[in-house]
Amino acid sequence: MNTVRHGPNPAVEPARILLVDDEPHVLSALERVLRNGPWSVETAGGGDQALEHMARQPSWVVISDYLMPGMDGVELLAEIRRRWPITRRVMLTGHADAGAIERAVNQGEIYRFLNKPWHPQQLLATVRECVEQYRLACANLEYERELCARNTQLTRLNAELEEQVRRRTEALLQSEKMAALGRMAGGVAHEINNPLGGILAFAQVLQRDLAGSGPDIQEGLQTIRECALRCKTIVDHLLSFSRRARPQDHQPVDLNRTAEAALALLRLDVRYRERPVEKEFAAVLPPVLGQDSLLQQVVLNLLQNAFQASPPDRPVYLRTGTDGESTFLEVEDRGSGIPNEVLSHIFEPFFTTKPAGEGTGLGLSICYGIAREHGGDIRVRSQFGQGTAFRLLLPQNGARSEVRS
Ligand SMILES: Nc1ncnc2c1ncn2[C@@H]1O[C@H](COP(=O)(O)OP(=O)(O)OP(=O)(O)O)[C@@H](O)[C@H]1O
Ligand SMILES: [Mg+2]
Repeated sequence: MNTVRHGPNPAVEPARILLVDDEPHVLSALERVLRNGPWSVETAGGGDQALEHMARQPSWVVISDYLMPGMDGVELLAEIRRRWPITRRVMLTGHADAGAIERAVNQGEIYRFLNKPWHPQQLLATVRECVEQYRLACANLEYERELCARNTQLTRLNAELEEQVRRRTEALLQSEKMAALGRMAGGVAHEINNPLGGILAFAQVLQRDLAGSGPDIQEGLQTIRECALRCKTIVDHLLSFSRRARPQDHQPVDLNRTAEAALALLRLDVRYRERPVEKEFAAVLPPVLGQDSLLQQVVLNLLQNAFQASPPDRPVYLRTGTDGESTFLEVEDRGSGIPNEVLSHIFEPFFTTKPAGEGTGLGLSICYGIAREHGGDIRVRSQFGQGTAFRLLLPQNGARSEVRS
């Protein structure tokens, strides 16, 4: 990982020592002792000058006199500590005010203090130690920064990972739920299919055998047949929801044609004849492998839902295109949208928000079953009050073919 260095770089820069005293001869005496060391030495005649110097280029070590006109040494070093915390601060004092110095040392304003007159070896040793301490403090700061950056990166990665796990778990739960529902729906439908066949067959036999009977009996038998046929449609839908893939029935399908054919079928229904549809078909669309009639059924269901959810004058968008490795077909409306609490249930068989008699709640579960049967998926985006888009995604098959819409 690249780290950006924000402060001084003691690995490449020479150490800088700042001497602060209002008496020039003290400054030159200090300079004389320090001038041959592995550092550069600068001087300031008072607190204000020292702070200006620090603001231009912070020193590693500041050695200040205690008693100076204006700002005294403790005030100066306290300010330096506040603004440049890693600069090592040394107080030089010949004054007897030991109490003030001790307090300053205790409060951490001063790192060391040296008595006047100083011993040159002691001064050199103190400065060397301060330089070393400064280097360590800089390295620590750098480690802290690096740690902080790595921590931030780790926190972000962790959050991304958690989000991924959450999404995958949700997808897994949804597909397990749908698989279980599929098995149950398939089992029930299969069981109902046989007695239903019996009802239909015997209603027909009775209609024939009792052809000479009165109109009441004939009408009753006709009602039995119609009701049984309605049940059969539902059972067929349930079976198509739970049907296993039958790749042998699959052919290359052009989704543009499928969409056109489904729309034409829907236009036969007087309720949808005049409804505006905006077609946005891809000019070049990779074919998919599938069963055209089933895929048309998906488009029909999606279009019906879209029309039912939006006002009659508002257009519904019918799109085709490619999305990564998939070819898609999308139906988008600017209708009611789907509230969040409803969204997680819409693919379940018999889930409907429509009034009794208007919807069986099978449309989307059938679409889902068909999508899965084709190795694809259906995704939904919806904004409550704004509209909904359903996207059928199917794996692409073979070479791209030119398809004109
Ligand atoms: N485009 C849409 N806009 C708003 N809500 C929708 C849309 N499509 C589906 N829904 C919601 O999802 C539910 C389930 O849809 P689904 O197609 O499975 O059944 P249905 O339309 O209620 O009945 P059926 O399709 O059997 O006539 C709907 O009742 C509705 O609440
Ligand atoms: Mg529907």
